[in-house]
Amino acid sequence: MVHTPPPFPVSRPRRNRRTDWMRDLTRENSLSASDLIWPIFVREGDDVVEPIDSMPGVNRLSVSRAVEAANEAANHGIPLIALFPYTDPDKKTPDAAEAWNPENLVNTATRAIKAQVPDIGIMLDVALDPYNSDGHDGIVREGVVMNDETLGALEQQALTQAEAGADILGPSDMMDGRIGIIRRALEQNDFPDTAIMAYSAKFASAFYGPFRDAVGASGALKGDKKTYQLDPANSDEALRMVARDLDEGADMVMVKPGMPYLDICQRVKQEFAVPTYAYQVSGEYAMIAGAGDNGWIDRDKAMLESLMAFKRAGCDGILSYFALETAKFLRRDMDLF
Ligand code: PBG
Repeated sequence: MVHTPPPFPVSRPRRNRRTDWMRDLTRENSLSASDLIWPIFVREGDDVVEPIDSMPGVNRLSVSRAVEAANEAANHGIPLIALFPYTDPDKKTPDAAEAWNPENLVNTATRAIKAQVPDIGIMLDVALDPYNSDGHDGIVREGVVMNDETLGALEQQALTQAEAGADILGPSDMMDGRIGIIRRALEQNDFPDTAIMAYSAKFASAFYGPFRDAVGASGALKGDKKTYQLDPANSDEALRMVARDLDEGADMVMVKPGMPYLDICQRVKQEFAVPTYAYQVSGEYAMIAGAGDNGWIDRDKAMLESLMAFKRAGCDGILSYFALETAKFLRRDMDLF
């Protein structure tokens, strides 16, 4: 029997792509300011805005400027900011004690922002690397990052952060047992409402390079972080880390970096159905911003496309250095899609 094809395409999916309004009508995902978490780098000084070379468009801000930035973020509908410190090298020690100084930079900034911008959430990283003269997230003895000894330090750090008014703690250190220890400390010290966003699937990535510059940890870092961060080749292991952190008391989980790990985002969301976030890290930012500034790609379009991809993969939100820029853009128009 001779098969005669019909004289027209049986289906015409292009009908649904024909006009702006038709594309608006059939779009499966959306991006809004409420999906965005903005990381801000804080440094000492009065009224300082210091550019970061490897992250064009991102600055280190002194506390008063960080308060202004938080206010702007709140006014643009961003629900949460994440504060990271650029610590004076003189304050870095092998025991990283500055991490639990109640008056350290992030704790001071948190108090100032809470007093002046009460309607935005604040997240603080729980990890020792900005304060540690070895540049590692944990305490180092004879070249080894010590797990259990680090847990005590993280516990103290977490408590001073909760006391300063942090709403969400983000343990980014990848030590074993840290979520359980922190959760117990919060419960015992009358902080039952402080949430934990666990950096559960955090990979040993080259994409963190510019961040380590930004917080002044790159010069300090001895060796690499492969004994605690995940191997980029693994995906089942990432799911096991998420399961463990949820068991220990995490309220939400994070995948990091973002774009090269969208498959992990999707698996985590499908498997656990919990609030799932991705961190579009400094190296991802640098690639898009750097290529954009050179005219090699369209910065705005690449920025929005990259953020929408996280939503498509199932993320509930994205930490991104583009957060404020994107929120401003979304307020103006959504015509790039
Ligand atoms: C460290 C920490 C890192 C980032 C957030 N918290 C870097 C690292 O693990 O070396 C990276 C963020 C980024 O690259 O934007 N605890």
